[in-house]
Order: sequence, then structure tokens, then C-alpha cells
Amino acid sequence: MNTDETRELLREIDTYVEDLFTPSDEILEAALRDSRRAGLPEINVSPNEGRLLQLLTEIAGARRILEIGTLGGYSAIHFARTLPDDGALISLEIDEHHAGVARNNVERAGLSDKVEIRVGDAHELLASLIEDDEGPFDVIFIDADKESYPEYLDASLRLVRAGSLILGDNTIRGGTVLDPKEATARATREFNERIARDPRLFSIALPLIRERIDGLTIGLVL
Ligand code: SAH
Ligand code: DHB
Ligand code: MG
Repeated sequence: MNTDETRELLREIDTYVEDLFTPSDEILEAALRDSRRAGLPEINVSPNEGRLLQLLTEIAGARRILEIGTLGGYSAIHFARTLPDDGALISLEIDEHHAGVARNNVERAGLSDKVEIRVGDAHELLASLIEDDEGPFDVIFIDADKESYPEYLDASLRLVRAGSLILGDNTIRGGTVLDPKEATARATREFNERIARDPRLFSIALPLIRERIDGLTIGLVL
């Protein structure tokens, strides 16, 4: 099969799964529409991956979730929907404009009480979370600048307990992790290797398809 045919098949399979398992949802669609109108890049998780994130956090029985990289709040809405009334999602975002769009999307979803978006560089915000002893989080979703994934993993390991999940998005990157030529792919590969080998974690990288192959790395804290 040539590349175009493969791409088309990946898209059809993803659409098949989406039609079957991922009901269309006006609030999520409005969040994507407003994000697009506000000029945000379309790099949110896919509807199917959002559903997978929701399933994982439900299984984890999460009450406190940390997200690194908010964008327009599309993944945040999925996470926050799984939370009990007294649950909380803290989401870190460096870009004030992204954070503003996300706050509006979260508000429309009726989830403002559970979602706190902190604006700043995640390196610094994570240091404060550790310093102020704001852990442990039941789920941490790493989805910001790819070069920093190994550092975000170190910080995450200081903000979890046994039974927590550490999730890393975009960890296959179209297969570029197999033979990394750029810093982002190198850092992603290092992140996967460290999660795989860390004796404190039980883990897997799960390839996911949309128009290209990417993936979600999942580590359970032992
Ligand atoms: N989780 C979102 C997508 C996040 S895209 C979703 O699936 O809906 C990555 C986001 O990380 C972008 O909004 C970008 O501005 C933010 N980001 C990049 N570098 C960052 C940093 N150093 N600290 C905090 N956020 C950062
Ligand atoms: C990119 C970032 C993401 O978080 C994502 O899900 C897809 C792509 C990017 O920077 O290209
Ligand atoms: Mg991502």
C-alpha cells in the first residue's frame, strides 16, 4: 500500500471507532470551534483519544488531576467530566491567550468549579507545586513542549502516589522516535525509555492513529 492509501485507511479506521464509540458532543465541538476561531493550533487530542483519557481516569478513580499543556481546554473538559463534585483539575499553560480561550470553553462546559488553569512556564509552575506540597495527583497528563518531557517526568514523579497514572501524549510522533533526528523526537524517545525502565513504574506506549500514527505512553506508579 502506498503512503496515501495507508493514510486514508488510518483515517477510516479512526472514524469507524469514533462513529461507534465516541458520541458527538455539542460542548466539545463548540470548544474546538472557538479554539479554531481564536487562532489556536489544532493540536488537541482526537475525540477517540479524549475518550481513552476519560476511561483511564475513571479506572484510576481520579479526584485530583494535573495537566501540563492546556491549549483550548479540549482534553481538560474530558478529564474534568470524570471528576467527583469535590475533585480538581489543575492545568498548566504558558500562553495567556490559550488559557483565556480554555477558561471560556471550560465555563461553557459548566466545569469552572473543578478546573484551575495556571498561566506560566510549566517548569516553574511544577517547581511551585512540589515546593507547596500540592500533590499527590491521581493522574498527570504531560502534553506541553516535547523537549521538556524528561524534565516533566522527573517533576511528575514527585507529585504522585502508588496507584497514580503518568500519561505522556505524542510519544510515537509518526515513528520519528524510532530514529530521532530532531531534539523533540530525541526527548520523546528518552521519555519513553525512562518510563519503560523506571522500576517505580509499570508502563506501556500505546500507538494511536488518526491521520498519522502517534501514541500515548501510560505509566502506573507502583
Ligand atoms: N492538552 C491539549 C493540547 C496541548 S498543546 C489538548 O489536547 O486539548 C500544548 C500546549 O502546551 C500549548 O497550548 C502550548 O502553549 C503549551 N506549552 C508549551 N510549552 C509550555 C511550557 N513550557 N509551559 C506550559 N505550557 C506550555
Ligand atoms: C503537537 C503537539 C501536541 O500536543 C499534539 O498533540 C500534536 C502535535 C506539535 O507540537 O506538533
Ligand atoms: Mg498532544
